Amino acid sequence: MRSQSADAAAKLILLGEHAVVYGHAALAIPLGKPRAMAVVSRAAAGRPVSVELPDLGLRWDGTAPVPRDAETFARVIRAAAERFPAVPREGWKLTVRSQIPFGCGLGSGSAVAAASFRAIGRFFRVPISPPLLSKMVFAIEKLHHGNPSGIDNTVVAIGRPILFRKGRAPRFLAAPRSPCLMVIGHTGVKHRTSEIVAAVSRARGKDPARYAALFRDIGRLSGQGAKAFQASRWQELGRLMDRNQELLEDIGVSSPKLGTLIRAARKAGALGAKLTGAGRGGCMTALCADAAVARRTARALKAAGAAAIFITEVSRNGKA
Ligand code: MEV
Repeated sequence: MRSQSADAAAKLILLGEHAVVYGHAALAIPLGKPRAMAVVSRAAAGRPVSVELPDLGLRWDGTAPVPRDAETFARVIRAAAERFPAVPREGWKLTVRSQIPFGCGLGSGSAVAAASFRAIGRFFRVPISPPLLSKMVFAIEKLHHGNPSGIDNTVVAIGRPILFRKGRAPRFLAAPRSPCLMVIGHTGVKHRTSEIVAAVSRARGKDPARYAALFRDIGRLSGQGAKAFQASRWQELGRLMDRNQELLEDIGVSSPKLGTLIRAARKAGALGAKLTGAGRGGCMTALCADAAVARRTARALKAAGAAAIFITEVSRNGKA
């Protein structure tokens, strides 16, 4: 076998980011696109495992020092070799491409790690079950983010819509009966999830009672949203997203640019819109009842300055 490839989905949090870090529920779905892709191929025997990231124009030959952009992959390679005796530390190459913008709340870090582990598993014929994959991706996420809730790795590795609570088995959601569309707009502002999560933690430390109430309210929205999602009650889900956005603003994680895109989406006819992921930049998402509204929303986002736009259908299998 000369090479094996694999991919992984981006994730979209519909409700519950930040509150999920403190044990409350969040609702998230995998996205059909954009995706991350990884290829493992044979290389010269005796040479350390190398990494190629064509999107970044980066090639790392596997020797120290590790360039910053290759750190995730150096960790993935080490973790795979430590866990699976069949995975050697030399003689192969990992190539990773991603359509998922980095640092924008769509789980790009989890997706590139998951695609890499999957490709390694296929190439060296080591079965990696979705729960094991989730665990291995979580270990990588922890090195980057310090205190991740575990929602990103779970959605990306399991690939199903879930109601997630930290430390509990995820609740898989039934597929919605009728489809809807999500329009995702990127502010063009990259963020570092770890810094925003840390800032929220500091703000919570100064006013614990207020933040406890905000997180509790968000968690409740996620529970209601899971029911609305499964029953395809899109108007209700849209209203819950709008309410969640207000609470995220109270927490202090929105931004003027996110606000501009969110308002533009609502004005164009979206049923609801909010930031998704850590906030303070990154992406927003808007729920649209049909393709015409989705197209109008996408045009409005472009006019309002979105740096990138994705339109994706939440289909009957629950994926978007
Ligand atoms: C990041 O995608 C979502 C946050 O809730 C952080 C986390 O859950 O780890 C902001």
